[in-house]
Amino acid sequence: MLEKEVTILLSKILTQQGTKGNNLNYIDIIQEEEIPVLCVNKAAQKKRLMPFKTLFDNNNDFWHMSGSWEYYLTEEGYNKLKSKLLEKRPDWNVQKKPEEKKEKAAEPAAGVKMEMGFGSEYKTYAEMTAKEKIECLNNDKNRLNEILLSKTKDNAVVTEVLVDTTKDAAMINHATIEEAINLADDEAKKLTQDLVDSTQEMVKSSAQLISENVFSNELMNTLVEKSNGTIIQHMTRVYLNGIAFLSYYNNLVSTSSAIQRLRISFATKYRTFYHKLLPHMNLDDIVLERVFYRGMRAIPPELYFKWAVGFLIHDIGKAGAVEYHEGEALYDRKIVIDHVKQGYKSIMTKTNYPMEASLMTGYHHEYYGDVDGYGYFRAYLQQYKKANPDAKQDYCITYELEPILDYQALAYFPAKVLEIIDVYDSVTDPLRTYRKALSSEEALNMMKEQFVEKQAKIDAILFDIFSTFIREKNKQGLKQSA
Ligand SMILES: [Fe+2]
Ligand SMILES: [Fe+2]
Repeated sequence: MLEKEVTILLSKILTQQGTKGNNLNYIDIIQEEEIPVLCVNKAAQKKRLMPFKTLFDNNNDFWHMSGSWEYYLTEEGYNKLKSKLLEKRPDWNVQKKPEEKKEKAAEPAAGVKMEMGFGSEYKTYAEMTAKEKIECLNNDKNRLNEILLSKTKDNAVVTEVLVDTTKDAAMINHATIEEAINLADDEAKKLTQDLVDSTQEMVKSSAQLISENVFSNELMNTLVEKSNGTIIQHMTRVYLNGIAFLSYYNNLVSTSSAIQRLRISFATKYRTFYHKLLPHMNLDDIVLERVFYRGMRAIPPELYFKWAVGFLIHDIGKAGAVEYHEGEALYDRKIVIDHVKQGYKSIMTKTNYPMEASLMTGYHHEYYGDVDGYGYFRAYLQQYKKANPDAKQDYCITYELEPILDYQALAYFPAKVLEIIDVYDSVTDPLRTYRKALSSEEALNMMKEQFVEKQAKIDAILFDIFSTFIREKNKQGLKQSA
């Protein structure tokens, strides 16, 4: 059992005795032999084994990083390193195991285990009968409706119900769609029909509750951490923040002069950014109306609910056993592209979820076609351009489906929003093992620099609105806890 296992701090093994340098020979062997690193977060009582290479590729000195994670080799790993060293180069003097400095891994509280992917709770959901799954979703909808009717403003009650019900819905959707993947399309759609209906009903109640309340971010994070499994935590946070953002966006564009102000500041603040995306146009012709197809506006309720479903199931294509975060070290590019494709295809062909939701899944890492994006649709766009050499994308973002399907616009509004929330969530996630989680402010600054200024990956205007949303939410959270 890992809890009992003797472990050795990686920094002690990799630092050359008597110097501050790293023992490069050891690093080579660890990589060649794929000896895993035991990552321990004492504060969060988490630990997990990670491939050395993944951590190393992101930061080739990660074992010296100060932060909430500590890095160890297990005794088995250390012995493997030692025997391989002797086998390969007997002349290398194997560093003595630091006997008196043996480190024990953090002693997590009873019951705390390594939790990856969808976490151990997932099994319970997967083993429910179809009827039980639907009952669970319907009960969740009733719980949400009761809270709505009670008109409570108790932040703790609202947040807890939102987190609980979102987690149920994400788990049940993943379990059912995973089952449906192996069936013929018609059969799969029959199997998932009740799920689609109940999830959509639940999402309506949940979205209404979010738009009527400011739920506490801090409280949300505490509650989300109770559910083990990094993917499920991510999906829960993205869904809740996604709807909260749409609600904020609607208030902003319908009740203030925000659009007019954007139009006035457009030339100085945004024109150069959008010219990179629309290089075939004259600089002066790039105006706010070129960014938003048929103009910037509020989102009508019917779209709002369809997009809410998209937030909930956007990472449904992630395999339970694989853990990674986009834009960071733990990712294998092929796997990232694959989860976009699998997610899109399974929602499109195995369920009757609206096309809006499947397109959000398919476009959620497109990064405006940037080479670093995971552009599942980029190949289709290239083919279209080849067949229609005179056709140009004259708009950046569309709220409707047709302009994205007809290649008139570069991006789909809810997918651009999802991209931003997704990156923000990944870089602020406290459970990542490969680098210290960024604070809210650090994340916003980094995203502005890397994803807007350096490369035009996420949308500049939507990002600015998102930044204000996060900052206002943080301020409100402070007020509530004062
Ligand atoms: Fe994703
Ligand atoms: Fe995601």
